[in-house]
Amino acid sequence: MQANREMLVALLAVLASAWPAAVSASQPTGPTCQRRCGGVDIPYPFGIGHGCYLYTGEHDLTFGLTCNLTASGAAAPFCGRLEVLSVSVPRGKVRVGNDISAWCYNATSRSMENRDEENRFTDVSDSSFALSDEENRFTVVGCNSLAYVSSSDLSQFATGSDYMTGCMATCPGDARQLENGSCAGMGCCQAAIPRGVNSYGVVFEHKFNTSQIKNFSRCSYAVLVEASAFDFRTSYVTAGDFVESTGGKVPLVLDWVVGKVTCREAKRNATSYACISGNSVCVDSRNVPGYLCNCTNGYEGNPYLQGGCRDIDECEGVEYPCSVPGTCINTPGGSRCACPEDTTGNAYTGTCEAKRSQLGVHIAIGVSVSVVVLVISISCAYMIHEKRSLAAVKKSYFKQHGGLLLFEEMKSKQGVSFTIFTREELEEATGKFDERNVLGKGGNGTVYKGTLKDSRTVAIKKCKLIDERQKEFGKEMLILSQINHRNIVKLYGCCLEVEVPMLVYEYIPNGDLYQLIHGGGSRVSFATRLKIADETAEALAYLHSWASPPIIHGDVKSPNILIDNNYTVKVSDFGASTLAPTDEAQFVTFVQGTCGYLDPEYMQTCKLTDRSDVYSFGVVLLELLTGRKALNLQATDGEAKNLSSHFLLAASARRLGEIVDVQIVNEESTEPIEQVAELAKQCLEINSENRPSMREVAEELGRLRKLLQHPWDQKNSEEMQGLLVGSPATSTYSDIELSNAYVSLDDSSYLGVQSAR
Ligand SMILES: *[C@@H]1O[C@H](CO)[C@@H](O)[C@H](O)[C@H]1NC(C)=O
Ligand SMILES: *[C@@H]1O[C@H](CO)[C@@H](O)[C@H](O)[C@H]1NC(C)=O
Ligand SMILES: *[C@@H]1O[C@H](CO)[C@@H](O)[C@H](O)[C@H]1NC(C)=O
Ligand SMILES: *[C@@H]1O[C@H](CO)[C@@H](O)[C@H](O)[C@H]1NC(C)=O
Ligand SMILES: *[C@@H]1O[C@H](CO)[C@@H](O)[C@H](O)[C@H]1NC(C)=O
Ligand SMILES: *[C@@H]1O[C@H](CO)[C@@H](O)[C@H](O)[C@H]1NC(C)=O
Ligand SMILES: *[C@@H]1O[C@H](CO)[C@@H](O)[C@H](O)[C@H]1NC(C)=O
Ligand SMILES: *[C@@H]1O[C@H](CO)[C@@H](O)[C@H](O)[C@H]1NC(C)=O
Ligand SMILES: *[C@@H]1O[C@H](CO)[C@@H](O)[C@H](O)[C@H]1NC(C)=O
Ligand SMILES: *[C@@H]1O[C@H](CO)[C@@H](O)[C@H](O)[C@H]1NC(C)=O
Repeated sequence: MQANREMLVALLAVLASAWPAAVSASQPTGPTCQRRCGGVDIPYPFGIGHGCYLYTGEHDLTFGLTCNLTASGAAAPFCGRLEVLSVSVPRGKVRVGNDISAWCYNATSRSMENRDEENRFTDVSDSSFALSDEENRFTVVGCNSLAYVSSSDLSQFATGSDYMTGCMATCPGDARQLENGSCAGMGCCQAAIPRGVNSYGVVFEHKFNTSQIKNFSRCSYAVLVEASAFDFRTSYVTAGDFVESTGGKVPLVLDWVVGKVTCREAKRNATSYACISGNSVCVDSRNVPGYLCNCTNGYEGNPYLQGGCRDIDECEGVEYPCSVPGTCINTPGGSRCACPEDTTGNAYTGTCEAKRSQLGVHIAIGVSVSVVVLVISISCAYMIHEKRSLAAVKKSYFKQHGGLLLFEEMKSKQGVSFTIFTREELEEATGKFDERNVLGKGGNGTVYKGTLKDSRTVAIKKCKLIDERQKEFGKEMLILSQINHRNIVKLYGCCLEVEVPMLVYEYIPNGDLYQLIHGGGSRVSFATRLKIADETAEALAYLHSWASPPIIHGDVKSPNILIDNNYTVKVSDFGASTLAPTDEAQFVTFVQGTCGYLDPEYMQTCKLTDRSDVYSFGVVLLELLTGRKALNLQATDGEAKNLSSHFLLAASARRLGEIVDVQIVNEESTEPIEQVAELAKQCLEINSENRPSMREVAEELGRLRKLLQHPWDQKNSEEMQGLLVGSPATSTYSDIELSNAYVSLDDSSYLGVQSAR
């Protein structure tokens, strides 16, 4: 017995000492292995030199790289003759430099010729690589160019090609219609390649040559390139500098596998199975026949190395998983949130509450039945007490936020469709304020998207700040809840029984005017711009006239003008709204609003009037007219920084044409543009008494809109434009031609809660 035990101890000792040695022998990460070349990291299974990479066979070049000099004399890793730009182990990708094929007209020889004689044929078939079909696109650049890509070397007239595809790029009219960044047939075209291809060659169709257009576009280019790394420049066509400006090489993405068998087969042979790290999994590749390894959820690192997958410390991550006062505790493969000592509750949402009593615990030590009964009854009493105190807290918040006032008023006013939501209802609507439902975040709060029980989609604004003004919250809510205008975001209700009040608004799906004008997503016709201006003016005029004293928006700006699917305006963010003060003492003494839109008179007098909104609206009009931002801090000369002063200067010097958006200059006769500019000028009068009222502005814009709708051929030409940018033919208004073309939506500025621009 004793002997056996000693043997076991000895065996364990031997194993223990042998283990680290075995590990280091199989770890190709020793100091002798070069893991960087020319600024590129080379993680295992890739490597330079014998024993530093995963050996897959004598003629397989997949993982063994060399560090050599490029044509320009810089050091870079090479895989065969392909220059390696980067390696991703978790995704199983390698980016390599790929040669651009060029076919140009030579004025001397008066013939078409290839840029260089060298054959441009890329073949990775004797490796564990394949060309990534997801990330690469066959791209042709030129004005009269048709090129094919195929799996075999077409220039050698090889037969039996597995696939062949291509695309044609033309420049109808002339090269002036070309657009930067747009590769959709005009000067540039792209075609997808099939899955699992591991070689490709390029050939230009000889019937499409550039001999007729040699003066502005001498060359045709073709290359297989990583789509996200390719950005079409008009100069590629007009100056023929595609090769020069990219150095002749563009990135190409290759997918790789670590073994050419499926995961199931690979796991059968433990000596060759590559996923050797703990907490790693085998993944079948979707493109290349074979498998890859990955670290399991909650781990990161290199699954091909012993102990390569390390636990991710979620608590140190970008997004802290817990809410204050909860603290994060990292666990293997995950994390959890804990409430501070002596408190209990949900640390993920931050609702930790003090443990009221340890009484139950002490008494539970006793064993008699009567004690157990006592414990139960005390616990019940405790729970009831706890529940009551929670209700008391809710009630006090409710009171603090003017809930009682609101309730009183609601009782007296019939027909007000305003709901007071409970905290639970809103938690349910937003999935407990799940991060995934966040529409936008800003310094002052977060806006969540939610779905109410009656399946209405709403936007819920949760404020962060509590300041003095929120005591008036209930009163403001009441005013806003009664406003019912098609161009003002509807406030459905609020929740007052929480520390900071939450507002529940109608959800507007389509982004805001700022994104529409400055997002660069699409062209916006003059008629649409006029419609937006008119509707915004109508909304503000309504606000100003709805109550006495008038309601002042206070922060009119393009990010606060939301646009729905039909290009209908919805004015939002009444965070700064006030009822106009009736006596001197009530003058608002803090500056609100946004730079670039601020009424200069208000800044001097601190007196916010309805004409302050008129000034801000004037700036919005300018944005619509010029397509420029209200404040452009990047501008070099002082004038151009401030849109209003820039405009006023240009207008007085009769140089209006220079600053009006070229998009609308070309489409519209100058007269209506000048009339809108004149109106903007009146809105921007320094002396507020000289500015028109919002009602007058709205009437003038309405008049201009009617004028623009005649004659009818105007409308038809607009519809044609709509078709050009790809809107559905079902559009019935010239105004809504862009409704579906505008897709670059970003809800981050929803309801005015935005990250700094
Ligand atoms: C480096 O490149 C040169 C020229 O392309 C070639 O002759 C040489 O063999 C390469 N060296 C290695 C180590 O691959
Ligand atoms: C490996 O896991 C990461 C993180 O979960 C994921 O982004 C990646 O796509 C996975 N790789 C493969 C090849 O499935
Ligand atoms: C054009 O052709 C001539 C004659 O064949 C040749 O000498 C010249 O190098 C070619 N030019 C270019 C830019 O290829
Ligand atoms: C270019 O193509 C046209 C017909 O498509 C042909 O007539 C002409 O000879 C070609 N020119 C060159 C230089 O190949
Ligand atoms: C495209 O961008 C280049 C700068 O990269 C610029 O010189 C050129 O004018 C732009 N072309 C158009 C049509 O905007
Ligand atoms: C092309 O340029 C040459 C000289 O640069 C000129 O003689 C010729 O008329 C131009 N051709 C066209 C079609 O513009
Ligand atoms: C397992 O893999 C090793 C190394 O690749 C190889 O030598 C061996 O023959 C394989 N065993 C089986 C049963 O396939
Ligand atoms: C938050 O509110 C303060 C004061 O009302 C304001 O100065 C600030 O610009 C607001 N921040 C954001 C991101 O809206
Ligand atoms: C948008 O227009 C369509 C038809 O033109 C209509 O059915 C829909 O109700 C409109 N939506 C809004 C929000 O006005
Ligand atoms: C912009 O220009 C107007 C008119 O000149 C001026 O009143 C205003 O203060 C300026 N605003 C800024 C931020 O420079």
